[in-house]
Amino acid sequence: MDRVLIKNLGQFEGQDVIIKGWLYNKRSSGKLHFLQIRDGSAEVQAVVFKGDVSDEMFEAADKITQESSVEILGTVKKHDRSKLGYELSVKEVKVIGESVDYPITPKEHGVDFLMKNRHLWLRSPRQRAIMVIRNRIIKSVRDFFNNKDFMLVDAPIFTPAACEGTTNLFETDYFDQKAYLSQSGQLYMEAAAMAYGNVYCFGPTFRAEKSKTRRHLTEFWMVEPEMAFCNIEQDMDMAEEFVEYIVQQVVDHCKDELETLERDVSKLENVKRPFPRISYDEAIEILHKKGNDTPWGEDFGGDEETLISQEFDRPVMIHRYPMECKAFYMKQDEQNPKVAKCVDMIAPEGYGEIIGGGQREDNLDILLAKIKEHGLPEEAFDWYLDLRKYGSVEHAGFGLGIERTVAWVCGLHHVRETIPFARLMDRIRP
Ligand code: 4AD
Ligand code: MG
Repeated sequence: MDRVLIKNLGQFEGQDVIIKGWLYNKRSSGKLHFLQIRDGSAEVQAVVFKGDVSDEMFEAADKITQESSVEILGTVKKHDRSKLGYELSVKEVKVIGESVDYPITPKEHGVDFLMKNRHLWLRSPRQRAIMVIRNRIIKSVRDFFNNKDFMLVDAPIFTPAACEGTTNLFETDYFDQKAYLSQSGQLYMEAAAMAYGNVYCFGPTFRAEKSKTRRHLTEFWMVEPEMAFCNIEQDMDMAEEFVEYIVQQVVDHCKDELETLERDVSKLENVKRPFPRISYDEAIEILHKKGNDTPWGEDFGGDEETLISQEFDRPVMIHRYPMECKAFYMKQDEQNPKVAKCVDMIAPEGYGEIIGGGQREDNLDILLAKIKEHGLPEEAFDWYLDLRKYGSVEHAGFGLGIERTVAWVCGLHHVRETIPFARLMDRIRP
């Protein structure tokens, strides 16, 4: 008999099946043992009744320890009170692999302990719910761009130069040269957009973030679309359609998981276009009104983002930041040369920036001047400058951080739980 996945048990009502999984929890009362079994697809209660099995087996069932792996033969019965709607009436239970002194018990544990045991913590129902939602978000990202005929173009991880400033670069030896771990695939996507039109990359990116905040990882996943013949307004249109799509996909497909996480789903249902768009100047006004005195010209941090997001019930796009607080490649606004045609999308409920992007400088001379102004090595960008020499066009794009998006959608306090194995300043194990 082949094993049946627990999530599919309903298709076998009244029949005998074999399941394989791990013992999550156990209770006993007199002639009954209730074994809580999970196999990754779902959880089921397997009921061992003294009258149904041999005395030895009944006794052995009582001794199965938490997280032992088991094989169970049983009959599928309807059980309306459980989440699955079915339970298993056990005929035979066998331990496959014993589990001795499993460290994560159903009692409360501290975060540090759980992070040290991340390889085991992943088995818990809350962590499973987060990973299911992460998986759905990633599927939605790919579906969205596939449906729109964007071409996936993979960006390299080893890079010769910085994209997002030099302060948080990870440097590594590359034979007899220096290389840096990629902070963003954007510059390569600009080359790809000039070759194929609408493109995107999706992969891990690296930043040596020396601040310990709840929004920063040193290794995180970013999806970066880049579009030829696209301006800042069209870029914002794409960003809001994209974010609406992925959030609504989670709402539609991950009801159980959102419930496990006790997420207020009405807040997510509300994430519908159009999203408010405000200029940096308007954002500064909001801040000043609320008693935050960030001077014009400074970038916003987490506190400012939270204050601004409180004014809105869905993500807000802040556009046209001062040139001086943004990266070298940003397109200067012809109407107001002090500001860049860039955009940040700030998630509601204090989750901070989830998207950064904008229109790119497509003029060779201005771009050269910016590279010099930012003190970047011109030689490293020779290939990038070529894109402005050979048929330069208006183009724009953005990057969405997957972990910040997962944190927001799941309603999590810290990004460390949004990725299977978080990399933080003080954590590289397991
Ligand atoms: O705003 P950022 O730095 O933009 C770029 O890298 C552009 N080159 C993207 C582009 O236009 N193609 O980063 C984009 C997003 C942020 O909004 C945030 O969601 C995420 O990446 N992010 C981080 N997530 C987790 N940990 C960190 N240390 C992050 N840094 C950025
Ligand atoms: Mg940013």
